[in-house]
Amino acid sequence: MSYEKEYGFWKENPEIYWKKKASFIDWFKPYQKVLSQDEEGKYIWFKDGELNTCFNCLDRHVNNGLGSKNAIIYDSPISKKKKFISYNQLLSDVSKLANILLSLGVSKGDRVILYMPMIPEVIVSMLACARIGAIHSVVFGGFASQELANRISDSTPKVILSASCGLEPNKIINYKDILNEAILLSFHTPKNQIIYQREELNVSLNKEGDLSWTELMSNQEEKSVDCVSLKSEDPLYILYTSGTTGIPKGIVRTNGGHAVALYNSMKMTYDIKKEDIFWAASDVGWVVGHSYIVYAPLLFGCTTVLYEGKPVGTPDAGQFWRVISEHNVSTMFTAPTAIRAIKKIDPQGKEIKKYKLNNFKYLFLAGERADPETIKWSIDNLNIPVIDHWWQTETGWSIAGNFPEFGIFDIKYGSTGKAAPGFQVEILDEEGNAVEKEKMGNLVIKLPLPPGCSSSIWNDPKRFFEAYLKKYKGYYNTSDAGVIDKDGYISVMSRTDDIINCAGHRISTGSIEEILTLHEDIAECAVVGLKDPLKGEVPLGLLVLNTNSIKSNSKIIEEVIELVRVKLGAVVSFRIAYVVENLPKTRSGKILRSTISKILNGENFNIPATIEDKTTLEYIKEIYNSFKL
Ligand code: COA
Ligand code: AMP
Repeated sequence: MSYEKEYGFWKENPEIYWKKKASFIDWFKPYQKVLSQDEEGKYIWFKDGELNTCFNCLDRHVNNGLGSKNAIIYDSPISKKKKFISYNQLLSDVSKLANILLSLGVSKGDRVILYMPMIPEVIVSMLACARIGAIHSVVFGGFASQELANRISDSTPKVILSASCGLEPNKIINYKDILNEAILLSFHTPKNQIIYQREELNVSLNKEGDLSWTELMSNQEEKSVDCVSLKSEDPLYILYTSGTTGIPKGIVRTNGGHAVALYNSMKMTYDIKKEDIFWAASDVGWVVGHSYIVYAPLLFGCTTVLYEGKPVGTPDAGQFWRVISEHNVSTMFTAPTAIRAIKKIDPQGKEIKKYKLNNFKYLFLAGERADPETIKWSIDNLNIPVIDHWWQTETGWSIAGNFPEFGIFDIKYGSTGKAAPGFQVEILDEEGNAVEKEKMGNLVIKLPLPPGCSSSIWNDPKRFFEAYLKKYKGYYNTSDAGVIDKDGYISVMSRTDDIINCAGHRISTGSIEEILTLHEDIAECAVVGLKDPLKGEVPLGLLVLNTNSIKSNSKIIEEVIELVRVKLGAVVSFRIAYVVENLPKTRSGKILRSTISKILNGENFNIPATIEDKTTLEYIKEIYNSFKL
């Protein structure tokens, strides 16, 4: 079947299409309707169907005789460890932890936060929660304690699962200290913290509720634990992501649609066969990690690689190719920034030539715009298809791509391919009118969103509608701007909100501004994304100081950089700030962030007619000129 035929079939018969895809999942109770709507108009996939995601990831493969097959290959150049974990072993560990959680009073619908590095125990934790119907929320290790505290306050977990530390190049991050502080800062106190002690750092477990992972697991007898039968619409997990305010949005993912969509994507999007080794070089703290390190490969029954390391520096720029070669990886998924980091150190691709990459079939890129140079370098050096595809935390799988299951269509550099069956992507202007082909506008998706996409935000039922559905009736607003060409290729160019994409991480400039204004000397500020050859974009702050400020500018800049690191986390990479006398504003007082961003990025800009004081733009141009020197 060609892409056109498959897409056309889905468009004509969406319910028949998804019914067929749902047949690859084991349901405890059949669903009554493929697609329905509740009283408020919210779409529901597979209503009244019951299943368990952990059952579909583990038990059914073991029952089908795949127990001795590797489920996880853990490769950590940073801790110099490798582990090969079979489906049997994973099921046994998950059952033990599920029993421990049950004994601590965790049950269906309870939340469990996972603040863990890239170790197999994080996958065991996710699946143990899924098994008993508890809702997990993984928090990325690079966030600071205040961010972790915000997530604890919002999701009110009964238990937190964590580890003694995370390992970054040349440093050990003490997770327990961060966790202790977060619990103090949050409005909610969990009943227990289960801590996995890593060899690299032993922490004291003396806080009320602290428990040792190793002790609990070694004392827990092998006892099977039933998979709780969950409704298709019951939440599997909450994943917090940046919104337009400093308050992170808890994106809720439900069980049924997620399992169906992810299983389907392994064939359609990634062309995976059961015997393949799949590697998503992301982090479990992000959606790519949830979907493609953990759930999709395990739902499909292939082997997933869990890599704890960086593309470069742990210890060299050849690690990606070593892992692919050593573990016979067929398909890899990473962010363009990772390839740029490798290319910077090894422009000739000498490291690639050191390894046999016989089984390597595809490289997939996502998370940020893949610049044509990066794609070209990858194709030239790897000699395989390099496929860009477009994603969001909210959708959980790719909105657009190139679909090898149907035969790859021509790759156009700079485009993320065509819409995936399930997504009808259109471009609208600010007023909601259709924008003609090849013209830039707001990328929107016609409702209903396909299975697997989120339709709610934890603790805030109205926020999903306000954030995504209100602006364009009948459409989901992606907050991405882009172009669709005459052949249906979609190019995603930029965000339309205050989110920037730094090293494949989604960062809200609004939340950085909120922190900057906490500093006593800052009267107001603006943070915009500055183009960066490695990370895509990095945040840059313009600071207006209070008139009574007595500290030097450089001291204040140093302090605010540290403040953002302490309050938001190192991963935000906020390292550049300038003091200015004023910020350019409209007469109604709105800061002209997009004009500032254009000036600082050397792009053409129009001076808005409504600007209050044009001289402030001159300061910004001076700053731009100072980079150029
Ligand atoms: N736990 C704790 N700290 C973390 C962390 C984690 N899991 N991840 C990152 N950090 C810290 C880093 O130690 C660094 O701290 P520093 O300022 O003290 O040095 C800071 O956050 C920024 O880290 P990072 O974004 O990794 O930048 P880098 O300059 O160290 O490395 C790249 C640059 C390109 C190699 C790296 O960003 C990378 O591998 N990116 C790919 C990202 C990715 O896969 N995204 C998934 C989207 S699909
Ligand atoms: P996240 O929710 O962290 O996955 O980030 C989603 C955002 O990353 C999208 O809204 C886009 O702005 C950007 N993004 C993801 N994939 C791509 C891609 N292939 N090309 C361009 N931008 C992308």
